[in-house]
Amino acid sequence: MLRTHTCGELRINAVNEEVILSGWVQRTRDKGGLIWIDLRDRYGITQIILEEGETTPQILETARKLGREFVISVTGKVVERQSKNPKISTGDIEIRATKMEVLNPAKLPPFTIEDTTDGGEDLRMKYRYLDLRRNPVRQNLELRHRLAKAVRDYMDEHNFLEVETPVLIKSTPEGARDFVVPSRMHAGEFYALPQSPQTFKQLLMVSGFDRYFQLVKCFRDEDLRADRQPEFTQIDCEMAFVTQEDILQTFEGLTKYLFEKVLQVPLSGAFPRMSYADAMRLYGSDKPDIRFDMKFVELNEVTQNKGFKVFDSAELVLGICAKGVAENYSRKKLDALTKFVKRPQIGAKGLVYLKCNKDGSFKSSVDKFYSQDDLKKWADKLGAEVGDLILVLSGETNHTRKAMNELRLEMGNQLGLRKNDDFKPLWVLDFPLLEWDQETERYHAMHHPFTSPKPEDMDKLETNAGQVRANAYDLVINGTEMGGGSIRIHDRGIQEQMFNLLGFTEEEAKAQFGFLMDAFEYGAPPHGGIAFGFDRLCALFGGQETIRDFIAFPKNNAGKDVMIDTPSPIAAEQLDELYLNIQEKK
Ligand code: AMO
Repeated sequence: MLRTHTCGELRINAVNEEVILSGWVQRTRDKGGLIWIDLRDRYGITQIILEEGETTPQILETARKLGREFVISVTGKVVERQSKNPKISTGDIEIRATKMEVLNPAKLPPFTIEDTTDGGEDLRMKYRYLDLRRNPVRQNLELRHRLAKAVRDYMDEHNFLEVETPVLIKSTPEGARDFVVPSRMHAGEFYALPQSPQTFKQLLMVSGFDRYFQLVKCFRDEDLRADRQPEFTQIDCEMAFVTQEDILQTFEGLTKYLFEKVLQVPLSGAFPRMSYADAMRLYGSDKPDIRFDMKFVELNEVTQNKGFKVFDSAELVLGICAKGVAENYSRKKLDALTKFVKRPQIGAKGLVYLKCNKDGSFKSSVDKFYSQDDLKKWADKLGAEVGDLILVLSGETNHTRKAMNELRLEMGNQLGLRKNDDFKPLWVLDFPLLEWDQETERYHAMHHPFTSPKPEDMDKLETNAGQVRANAYDLVINGTEMGGGSIRIHDRGIQEQMFNLLGFTEEEAKAQFGFLMDAFEYGAPPHGGIAFGFDRLCALFGGQETIRDFIAFPKNNAGKDVMIDTPSPIAAEQLDELYLNIQEKK
């Protein structure tokens, strides 16, 4: 070994020991006869001291030539420091160097390797291996490791087997585009990379594996966001001979275990549950952030037929109540909120407010149309009290709910109600099985086509398919979808019916999923499962929004890895081997 200890290891009890440390030069300070070096590795920083008279002139000379990020090895004696540094774990001691060797010099890094660096995102991504030397990024990956370890411990404890599934497969219908890989051996044919191991985990249930899990890479060609990467990791799970309740219990257990083990945060009591229909009605979202209240209240009854055309012609008039902030919301702030909801991404036509004044009177932007008594009715409906601010949007139902969801979250942000050390899990249940797509004029599976309809809704499959609810559930934490799953269809007939509803011909269904339907005829047990977004879980635990910070070598927002420069063209010979011609981009 080129070291006896790490740079984060030595304490006062090691005084007088002869040690060898190796690492990177964080910084040097030269006071003439005295030189200090901060030597860094993954574990911490140790101060090295070189003093004229104690070390040879050659060592002093070498030390003077050290640059940032040089890799060096130092031999010396541990001594107690005169001025201690309580900020670092090794701050009581320093090493009086007797030998020093430069193991590798380094070019000046393009940005500072400090907790807060001067390097912009692009530069840090190009030199990601240097970015990874920084404490915050390294700590994120350490957290990821601890989480993965805890996941495996829990799953193992509960009899789950980790089974690897293939990466070169056939298309899986999770709703995004596939990444495809051309086959050299089969001209004109392609593999697809898995959007998830969905069909394989179901086949493992048919094989009798009973409890499966896998920390697995999934690939989806879709528009990227802070919580989406083209390749990401799932904790993918499946169980046989279970009901939905068993699955919710098992994975509520996993979630609690992870919080306790990794964050030392106990999540007490059962996770609350909400139907999809209620989530949409009360929060306008299938992933409500329940760290704060501000539920939607329908105001049609108390706002319509008073001469205000905007409300009169609206399908839905919706209000939220922000407690105790009426006075803080000046005209200017309310104008800014109006501007916010009018942004094209949100698309509201306007915003109506109602302030519940201290003297018991009401002030609203539509006073012209409503008496004080009328306005009191709004306030009563919302349970508003003196000092509260009510915000109202109106229009077509889904559109208004969506816009109000954005406004509610914005208010949550503005009022500091979305703290990232406050964790509020929620099961969202009873999703619709199907979703009507206006553009293609057909149904899409809301989760995926293997999701089982609720038995009590089965009779509506033929007559009113849009109303059928699924045995599907999402785990939402702090307004982010952390995981989703369902009880599956395990009957060939129902699976065929489902493909038919989704617009597959019999031949198409057979060509794409014949293997699964065949398997259902050889003793498929009832089964169901869930998959967690592992990167999202890491970001949640790390108190951050972007999953990129928790992936060692992520893609940027344009889906590129700028460090290795990919995607990039391939050689003409490679194209020939794969029988591919490239078309000009139109
Ligand atoms: P689903 O498509 O809901 O379900 O995915 C499961 C979870 O994976 C995470 N996730 C992502 N994370 C980062 N980047 C992405 N592009 C991305 N897409 C999804 C989310 C999501 O909740 N096979 C089913 C699971 C099942 O039915 O058991 C599936 O993949 O956190």
